[in-house]
Amino acid sequence: MANLNVVMILPTYNERDNIGKIIDALQVQFRHMPHDMHILVVDDTSPDGTADVVREKQVTYSNVHLLMGQKAGLGAAYIRGMIHAMDKLQADVVFEMDADFSHKPEDVPRLMAALDQGADFVIGSRYVKGGSIPKEWGVLRRMNSLGGNIVGRYIAGVYKIHDCTAGFRAIKTSLLRRIIFEDLRVQGYAFQVALLHKAVSLGAIVKEVPVDFVDRTEGESKLGISDIIEFILNAWWIRLHSSKTFIKFAVVGLSGVIVNLGVFTLLLQANVNKYLASPISIEASIITNFLLNNYWTFRQRKSRDHLRIKGLKFNMVSLVSLVVSYSTFVVLSILFPATPPEIHQLVGIAPAMLINYFLNSYWTFKH
Ligand code: GDD
Repeated sequence: MANLNVVMILPTYNERDNIGKIIDALQVQFRHMPHDMHILVVDDTSPDGTADVVREKQVTYSNVHLLMGQKAGLGAAYIRGMIHAMDKLQADVVFEMDADFSHKPEDVPRLMAALDQGADFVIGSRYVKGGSIPKEWGVLRRMNSLGGNIVGRYIAGVYKIHDCTAGFRAIKTSLLRRIIFEDLRVQGYAFQVALLHKAVSLGAIVKEVPVDFVDRTEGESKLGISDIIEFILNAWWIRLHSSKTFIKFAVVGLSGVIVNLGVFTLLLQANVNKYLASPISIEASIITNFLLNNYWTFRQRKSRDHLRIKGLKFNMVSLVSLVVSYSTFVVLSILFPATPPEIHQLVGIAPAMLINYFLNSYWTFKH
């Protein structure tokens, strides 16, 4: 196997108690690897003085590099690190790895071996056979991790990958150089999904290698509620900007909004009771949405289901949307009686549309 220039990027924010130990542990692994191994610590001017520890290690190890910057999120740190690794350190391969021992240094050679065997993008995966998350994780942490992965896989649309939020990965820079980072437009934790999504759409060979994710013992996770919200919004953004199907679905959805509100307004003007007018107008928009999605949005899908089965599934999904939309309308009408009913009707459309897309895309019109 050719001798490659490999740069392990370790993003750090307040990792003073971990960074020195992980640099030492990685050096031990490097001794057995047939490549030129480097470590690039990307530190966002951590107030705890993480960079000072790195500078001390640079005295001992000539392959340790430090890139300083201002805190702008995990994704922004990775982008800065990857550009530096490619342009200044001439990397053939870059690794993403947490600096807190969540990812075991002993797993680095296995990830590298998968890359040597032909993959472009190797993921240290917790959710394939042989991989695991920490047993001590509570329900919330498990749900957060699983939920993030489901959002990434099915909303952002990388459903063939089992662990799409993993932060332990090895990537060939021949692939990375084809990716325009500004186009990813995500600075936080969603970067992992955005980069993977782009790699998959470029036809990269992706391999998942099972790893055990270990709970950190020093310092604390930086992932907060604002990161989770940003992650979910960005997952939709990734989908919206990449999928013609979703754009078509959104256009159809918009036409459905017009039909829904149009019929509702007409019925109100005809003195129909608002609680009856609401489901009638929802149903009218479902029918027009069905016709447009069936003959336009999902026209390319070669579902094995008979048309009648597809029709039945679509109706079932529509029923779910109707219940979601109508329940939202009723709840809002009770909670905010002074607000015009048109607003309640409009708000009810949003969750119904998301559920509608999700179920129709992955069930009714599945490939
Ligand atoms: N430079 C920089 N800037 N580093 C950061 C920042 C930042 O804004 N935020 C976090 N880091 C560093 C941490 O210091 C650590 O080395 C690594 O990124 C992971 O951060 P954690 O905050 O420990 O992440 P986590 O354990 O909650 O999340 C892990 O799992 C996620 C999936 O479940 C990470 O591996 C994520 O990458 C992964 O998406």
